[in-house]
Amino acid sequence: MKVLGIETSCDETAVCLLEAHGEFGSDFSFSVLGNALLSQAALHAQYGGVFPNLAKREHAKNLVPLFEQVLKDAGELRTAASPQAGVALLPLKEILSREPELFSALAAFLLRYEKPDIDCIAVTHGPGLEPALWVGINFARALSLYWNIPLVAVNHMEGHIVMSMMSASPSGHSNILQNIEMNSGGALRKFEFPVLALLISGGHTELVLSEAFGTYKLIGQTRDDAAGEAFDKVARLLGLGYPGGPEISRLAHEAREKNISAGAVLPRPMMSEDNFDFSFSGLKTAVRKIVEQEPLTEEKKLQLAREFEDAVADVLVGKTMRALEEYGAQTVLVGGGVSANVHIRTRLAEALEKAGSPAQLLIPPPELATDNALMIALSGYFHATQKDFADPFALTAQGNLKLA
Ligand code: KG4
Ligand code: ZN
Repeated sequence: MKVLGIETSCDETAVCLLEAHGEFGSDFSFSVLGNALLSQAALHAQYGGVFPNLAKREHAKNLVPLFEQVLKDAGELRTAASPQAGVALLPLKEILSREPELFSALAAFLLRYEKPDIDCIAVTHGPGLEPALWVGINFARALSLYWNIPLVAVNHMEGHIVMSMMSASPSGHSNILQNIEMNSGGALRKFEFPVLALLISGGHTELVLSEAFGTYKLIGQTRDDAAGEAFDKVARLLGLGYPGGPEISRLAHEAREKNISAGAVLPRPMMSEDNFDFSFSGLKTAVRKIVEQEPLTEEKKLQLAREFEDAVADVLVGKTMRALEEYGAQTVLVGGGVSANVHIRTRLAEALEKAGSPAQLLIPPPELATDNALMIALSGYFHATQKDFADPFALTAQGNLKLA
């Protein structure tokens, strides 16, 4: 089955064409036929975070070129022999009435090329920024109706979970249009349920228990800022770029190399509380107070970056280890953009080893931890095999979509 994945929930426009076989839990395998991603991070940097209307505009501008690139890489871009009937485009004009620029580009594309060999279209319908989500959804709905291809709605967080379950290794980067070609293929890793998933991204910090593919129970979450949001906000306080995670991580690493230890001790919010919730806004406030009271020297930046990363790691690792004990999970999975953080990954692996835990740790390669369309196509394939299709007329963006 060939699945087209479309991701526009935040500031990455991503399209992927996947060919997948078999069933989750037994003989699943996939190869990536085409994969393109355009990050808007540099554009949002001036705002210190994602600016929803800018994200929407950029997605609308980039979807057709990325889609074309993916089809080309997949060998699925075929010029139509005879002109296509323009009248079939009328319903699409309605669907894309809020994205007129996307409609024009898509209409020209559809008139020019033949229907590619795609069996299913998977699109993120939440959680995320609604104006951004809508662009991908309307694009997917238009393609689904025009070519009569079934549609699947994917929960972005499930995409991160599924991605972490794969043995996919990034292969080569190509920088044409800043596209990143990530993988050639992979399969499901061998692991046992229950799976305890620590989801850490720009919008979420959650501990989720999964007893089987597609079933989730939320056991804890942040009460204020997400872990990635805290990285981004603290980076801003330290005068670093956006996204803040990689920047802080770089400084923290430098501090460890140079043996620069914490000048001030930051709190470990909620770490000892008897629940599985998190809170990161106090940590950001503590950094702000220090920055306001003391001159922000280069050394201070290194100290704060290291101490902040240690504090986040302590809390995430501490709570995950307690949840593992409480729920007796066989597998610990980490997913979402913050799981690209080397220090957090290492700390969790060390904690499992120190505790003599038999639980297996699943972490995606850093390149696949952040948002991409492969994860959406993978999750979409699972739902397609479950015959869990979406109605292209009724599909809507759900900014606060939950896993459970
Ligand atoms: O999953 P993701 O790409 O997008 C969302 O769904 O939110 O996560 C983005 C978040 C950003 O907050 C970014 O700062 C953070 O992931 N991030 C990191 C690292 N790389 C990305 N945080 C800490 N360390 C990193 N190396
Ligand atoms: Zn994400």
